[in-house]
Amino acid sequence: MWTSACKVSEIEEGKSKIVTVNGKTLALFKSGGAFYALDNSCPHRGGPLGEGHLEGMEVTCPWHAWSFNVKTGACESMPDMKQKTFPTKVQKDDVLIDA
Ligand code: FES
Repeated sequence: MWTSACKVSEIEEGKSKIVTVNGKTLALFKSGGAFYALDNSCPHRGGPLGEGHLEGMEVTCPWHAWSFNVKTGACESMPDMKQKTFPTKVQKDDVLIDA
């Protein structure tokens, strides 16, 4: 279900924000002018990916430094792991996530 997560202006380029959408805690990133949403809970030990460092399309978990592609959810550190991703779109001033 598409739901407004925040205002476009709330996230600067290269930054992130942890949002709650339909009871799910998600990490929302802005990279290259586009928004990407991942499950916030790192599959390693549950670290908050939305507080991780974003470099291009890669976010690094703040707890033990596993890194994930914010578009595909692919884990660079553990190729067997894949973080769940959620579609996003911008409508007027809002960032919507289908979660
Ligand atoms: S909890 Fe994310 S790398 Fe350990």
